[in-house]
Amino acid sequence: MTNEALAALLHDLSLDEKIAQLCQIDMSTFLADAGSPTGPMLEFNLTREQIVSAGSLICGANADADKFAEIHETIQKESKHGIPPLIMSDVIHGMRTTFPIPLALGSSFDEDTAEEMARISALEASACGVHVTFSPMLDVCRDPRWGRCMESPGEAPALCGAMGAAMVRGYRGKDLKQKGTMATCAKHYAGYSACEAGRDYAPVDISRTEMFNTYLPPFKETLDAGCDLIMPAFTPVDRVPAAANRWLMKDILRERWGWEGVAITDWGSVGELYLHHMAVDAKDASVRCFKAGTDMDMMSFAFFSGLKEAVEDGTVSMEEIDASVMRVLELKNKLGLFEDPNHGANGADQMAMRGRKEHRDAALRAALKSCVLLKNDGVLPLNAGMKVALAGSHADSHRLLGAWQADGRDDETPSLLERFSEDQRVTLTDVENADIIIYAVGEDQDDVGESASKLNPALTIEQKAELDKMLAAGKPVVMVLFCGRPLMIEEESAKCAAVLNAWFPGSEGAMAIKQLLMGDVNPSGHLSMTFPKCVGQIPIHHDQLSTGRPTEPENGRFISVYRDGSNKPLYPFGYGLSYTTFAFSKAAFSADELSSSAPVTFTVKVANTGKMAGETVVQLYYQGKRVELMAPLRTLQAWKRVCLQPGEETVVSFTVKKDDLRMWDYDGKPVEAAGVYDFFIGESSMAELSASILIK
Ligand code: GLC
Repeated sequence: MTNEALAALLHDLSLDEKIAQLCQIDMSTFLADAGSPTGPMLEFNLTREQIVSAGSLICGANADADKFAEIHETIQKESKHGIPPLIMSDVIHGMRTTFPIPLALGSSFDEDTAEEMARISALEASACGVHVTFSPMLDVCRDPRWGRCMESPGEAPALCGAMGAAMVRGYRGKDLKQKGTMATCAKHYAGYSACEAGRDYAPVDISRTEMFNTYLPPFKETLDAGCDLIMPAFTPVDRVPAAANRWLMKDILRERWGWEGVAITDWGSVGELYLHHMAVDAKDASVRCFKAGTDMDMMSFAFFSGLKEAVEDGTVSMEEIDASVMRVLELKNKLGLFEDPNHGANGADQMAMRGRKEHRDAALRAALKSCVLLKNDGVLPLNAGMKVALAGSHADSHRLLGAWQADGRDDETPSLLERFSEDQRVTLTDVENADIIIYAVGEDQDDVGESASKLNPALTIEQKAELDKMLAAGKPVVMVLFCGRPLMIEEESAKCAAVLNAWFPGSEGAMAIKQLLMGDVNPSGHLSMTFPKCVGQIPIHHDQLSTGRPTEPENGRFISVYRDGSNKPLYPFGYGLSYTTFAFSKAAFSADELSSSAPVTFTVKVANTGKMAGETVVQLYYQGKRVELMAPLRTLQAWKRVCLQPGEETVVSFTVKKDDLRMWDYDGKPVEAAGVYDFFIGESSMAELSASILIK
C-alpha cells in the first residue's frame, strides 16, 4: 500500500476503529463466542466491532496458519475496513525447534549463532502465521534470584546489545514483506532486571547515570539494527512505571534516539496503574500511558474505552491518536499484510517446517557452543570403554527446553539417557559398577522464566543429598547442570571432579552434552553471567564500579570485604574451560595514543598449547586510569571466537575507537575517555595480560 493510500485509510477510520488499532487482545478472546453473555463482550465490555477491529492479536503456542487464515477471513468479512491484525507471540529461543535459552546463547559469545537461531525461529513461526515476536529480551542481568535471567544474553551491556542486534537481523531478514520473516520487539525497556531483591515485578530504583551507561545501551544498539517495536517494562523508572514514563518513552526514545517504531505495553501494564494507585479508572490510566508515549495497550482493554473518553473530552487530540495509529499501519504495511494478511503462511509450509533436520542441526551447533565447562579435574573427556552411571533428576528428562518454549515439545526432546544409550563407546551401568558417574541435575524448566524468583537459587535438598550418596560410592562424579540462571553450587562444585553447565540447552541439548562429555567436540562456552559463591554476594558482576577501599586482603579491616565470606565469585563472567589450553602473549596497540580522529588496533598472540583442537572466546576488557566518572573495574569491549589446532597460534586483532569508550553523565551527556586506559585480554573477565594506551 502506498503512503498516500495509508493516509487515506487513516482518514477514513472512525475514532472507535482508530483506537481499536491501538489495542491488542488475545486470540482466545477473539475466538470466544463474542455473542455469548459470558463472552468478552460482557467480561471486557467489548463490542463485536471492537473485537474484529483490534489492531493486534497475541497468541501462545497455539499459532496455526490455517486458523489464522480463518481469522483473517472473518475480519475481512465483519470489520468495516478489514485492516489485518498484527499476530504477535513470544518466540524467544525457537518455535518448534528449540534452541538453548538466550542466557546460554550469550555464553556462546557468537552473534552468528544468535542470528541463525532467529532466522530459523522466523521461518518456523511465520509459517504458523506469526508476524511479530516479543524478542530480543535485553535486560542486563546481575541477580540470579530473578527467574527471567534465562531470557537475557546476560550481564554485559555490550554482549546484550550485540546479541540483540544479531537476533533482529535474523528474525527480520532482508525484507519483512518476504514470508519466513518476523518483525521484532525489544524488551523490557528498561531496567526490569534490577527489580528489588530479585523479586519479579518488584520496584526498581536505578540512577539516570546507571540507565545511560548500563540499561539503555543494549536497546539503542538493537533499535539501530532495525527493531520494529519496543515493550516498556512493568517496572518503574524514577517511580513512574515505564509505560507511563515520558522520560523513557518520549525524551529518550523519540527525541534523543529519533526512533519511530511502535511502543506496545507489557501484558496488562496500563491496568496496573490502578494497582500502583496512579490511576482511578480506564481513562486515567490510558491517558497517562498514551500521553507518555505508549502506542498500544496489551491486554488491559483500557484503551478501548479510556482513550475514546479522553479524545471526546479533549485530553487527547485526534492528531496524537493519528500519529500512533499511523505507526501501527506502517508496520502492517512493512509486513505486506494489506496484500496478504497471513504473510505467506499456510498449513503445508507449517507442516514442512516441523522437525527439519537442518533446524535441529543448527540447534545442536548452538548447544555445543553454549555449554560451559566450569571444572575438570582431568576426568573429561570420557574414554571409550568406560562404564558410566547416569543419575540425577535430569538423567532421563525431556524437560531440557527451558521456559518460553513456544511450540517446542518435550516429547520431541531426547534425554541424556537416550543419547548415551545410542552410543556403544560407553557402557551404561549402575553406580556400584561404574568407573564414573554423570550426575544430571538442576532446575525444572517450569521453575525459571517469568514469576520464578527464588530466595536461594541452588540445588534442592534432595538433589544435594543424592549427590552425597553418589560421592559416597567413591567414584569421580561429573555434574551436568541444567539451569536458567547461575545457581549457588560452591559446595557441589568442590566435591565433583567436573562440572558442565548446560543451562537449558534446547531440543538437541542431550546430544550436545553427550558429544562434549565424550570429547567429540571440545567445550567452548564462556559464562554470560557471573556464578556467585552465595546469595549474599548478589549483585556481583564483572563490571562493578571501583571502590574507594581495596577489596583484598579478604581478612582486611576498613576495606570492601565481608567478615563472613569472600567477595570473589565462584566463576567469573567470561569464564569457561576447554579440553585444551590456550596461551596469550604479545598484547600490543598499533599506536601509543588514541584520538577520535583515528582508531587503533589491539593485537594479541593466541596459541593452542594443548593436545586437542579447540575454540576459545578471546575477550577484551578495559579500565580507565583517569576518568571523569567512577568507572567499572572491567568493561567488556570486544570478543572473538578463535579455533586452533594443537600447537597452532594466531594473532587476534580488535579495532578500538575512542567513541566506544565514552561514558554518559546523569543528564545523558557524553563523557569522553581521556588519560591512560589499561586493556586486558584473555579468556575471562579476570584476564591479566594487558596493554595500555594514552587517550587524547
Ligand atoms: C509477559 C512478559 C513479556 C511477554 C508478554 C506477552 O508478561 O513480561 O515478556 O512478551 O507478557 O506474553
